[in-house]
Amino acid sequence: MQSITSEPTTATRPASLALAVQGLGKQYRTGFWLNRRVDSLKDCTLSVYQGETFGLLGPNGAGKTTLMKVLLGIVPPTTGSGTVLGQPLGDQEAKKQVGYLPENPYFYEYLSGTEVLVFTARLFGLDTHTTRARIPELLAQVGLSEEAGAKQLRKYSKGMLQRIGLAQALVNNPQLVFLDEPMSGLDPMGRFQMRELVLSLKRQGKTVFFNSHILSDVEQICDRVGILAQGELVALGSLDELLGVKETYHAHFRCPDQTVTAYLTDLEPLGDSWQGVLKVDPAQFLNELTQAGGVLLELKLQRPSLETFFVERVGNRATPR
Ligand SMILES: Nc1ncnc2c1ncn2[C@@H]1O[C@H](COP(=O)(O)OP(=O)(O)O)[C@@H](O)[C@H]1O
Ligand SMILES: [Mg+2]
Repeated sequence: MQSITSEPTTATRPASLALAVQGLGKQYRTGFWLNRRVDSLKDCTLSVYQGETFGLLGPNGAGKTTLMKVLLGIVPPTTGSGTVLGQPLGDQEAKKQVGYLPENPYFYEYLSGTEVLVFTARLFGLDTHTTRARIPELLAQVGLSEEAGAKQLRKYSKGMLQRIGLAQALVNNPQLVFLDEPMSGLDPMGRFQMRELVLSLKRQGKTVFFNSHILSDVEQICDRVGILAQGELVALGSLDELLGVKETYHAHFRCPDQTVTAYLTDLEPLGDSWQGVLKVDPAQFLNELTQAGGVLLELKLQRPSLETFFVERVGNRATPR
């Protein structure tokens, strides 16, 4: 078993737990006679701290939605236990502080965006006065105009539907927001905007737990990441912890004097400049370069990509069971 870091580093550790699960497993019975069993989750142990943006990655069928449903108290676990906002899984009080954007939210398409929000506000028991005040705030928060809110959902684009889905997940001003594949099906602009919305939730101090199979989305916005493969958590930690911050620097420089080339390997000419990997620490190289009358054009810290790491960890477990 690979090493799994279950705690955020002390420097980044937020104050308290938003959720924690231990040894969580979920087995579904399938088939006509319900005699086939699928282990959708196996022995998952995981903590997410308040204020964190946590990304759960994994190929299709890895168990991401199942884990989210267990955390939301929609399905009970077969084994293990956990807490959400300090309460046991499925607790009604904790649910009042939680928001949820399902994977493929289904809305009745003849309702307007505003009507969907009114409906959700009623479910949360908000009174008419509070609901009236809350809806314009929510529309603004997810970047929908009031005119857009007045339109029927059948006239919405996929991006607008995701926004109204997010708005309904925020109706109760939750502390903890679960987003299941919030970027899927969106075009690059829509994905960018959804990422910005997630970041704005983080700025408001909310804890965001989101599932995705799109590595770049997770890489750009998450404080910590978990990787699920065939129901098992195969990696957990910050990107620095998972990918390592290898002390490998790539330098791109221009220098009239050849002597500095002794401090690099894998040298390549690039027009009138050079690039290569430093053999010495960057401060020393910069010193030598400056003394030789050269200029540093770019210095990059190299580390393996999340994609390489993901492929290594998930390996042949990417195939559906
Ligand atoms: N209600 C269910 N009944 C039976 N099997 C299920 C059910 N929900 C999910 N599964 C199975 O559990 C596994 C994990 O599914 P899911 O959690 O939806 O994965 P992901 O969200 O990572 O794509 C899959 O093999 C899926 O077929
Ligand atoms: Mg899913």
